[in-house]
Order: sequence, then structure tokens, then C-alpha cells
Amino acid sequence: MKMKHIAALVACLFLTAAVHAAEDPPVDFVKQIKPILADRCVECHNSETIFGELNLQSRELAFRKRKLAPAIVPGEPEKSMLYLALTLPPKDKKAMPATGHRIPKDEVSLIRQWIKEGAKWPEGKEGVVSVQRKKS
Ligand code: HEC
Repeated sequence: MKMKHIAALVACLFLTAAVHAAEDPPVDFVKQIKPILADRCVECHNSETIFGELNLQSRELAFRKRKLAPAIVPGEPEKSMLYLALTLPPKDKKAMPATGHRIPKDEVSLIRQWIKEGAKWPEGKEGVVSVQRKKS
């Protein structure tokens, strides 16, 4: 093989590796999950309104012990009601969000992936999900 070809091959391999790495970056709670919770969930799952014994305003609160099974089981989306509730048929009383339109499929997959990757949720200010006032 000529040097030129080898160089081209090596460049190709690097490029493939780079593309693969860019394909699946880990889900970022602050950038990707927090906005969904803030927009669609905390209005009913906060320190004043704790439907389903679930407060989603911080990691500590979300993982607090409930009478029901834990809502988030890190690494196991299929055992996490926080994910399963988004996949239930809309008529199911456990289907979430309880009102309004459903969460788009790509966001549901994002939540699934986030739980699968260990449900990383920073402590402190970054991890605090505030209740937003409805814009419309
Ligand atoms: C309009 C209010 C409302 C909104 C918005 C809402 N929920 Fe709920 N949620 C409820 C109520 C009411 C329950 C209790 C349902 C029951 O157990 O019958 C509940 C229960 C839950 C539970 C516990 C179910 C169980 O049995 O363990 C989870 C998990 C949950 N919600 C997740 C979410 C997520 C995630 C969102 C945002 C995508 C969301 N909820 C948005 C009202 C709401």
C-alpha cells in the first residue's frame, strides 16, 4: 500500500470514531431533562402539590422514600414509573402528564436514556427544578 493510501485510511478511521462519539453523548440532565420536568411535571409535583407522593424539584426530593415503589430506578427505565408513566395509554390514570398534550416521543426516549445511564441529577442549585408559570 502506498503512503498516501495509508494516510487516507487512518484519516477515515479517525473520522468514523469521531462520528460515533458524537452520535451518543450522555444525556445532560440540566440541558435536556430539567427543561421537560420544569415545563410539564413540577406544576403538579412540587413542595406544595405533591401528587402521587412525588416531588420533582430536586434530586433529594425526587428520590425520597415513598409508599409506592421508587419513581426512578437508576439504570432501569422499565422499573421507573417516571418513564413508564409517559408510555401508558392516555386513558390510564397513571399516564403522565395528567393533563395537556403528551410528551413528544423523542423526549420520552431521552428520559429513558437518562435513566438507563444512571439518572444523573446534580445536587445543589443546578439540579433545582423551579415551577414555571404557564406562558400560554
Ligand atoms: C396536572 C397534574 C400533573 C402533571 C402535569 C403531572 N402529573 Fe404526575 N401525577 C399526577 C397525579 C394526580 C398523580 C397520582 C396518580 C395516581 O396514582 O393515581 C401523579 C403521579 C405520578 C407518578 C407516580 C406514579 C406511581 O404510581 O408511582 C409519577 C412517576 C409521575 N406522576 C410522573 C410525572 C411526570 C414525569 C410528569 C411530567 C411529564 C408528570 N407526572 C406530570 C399529576 C400530574
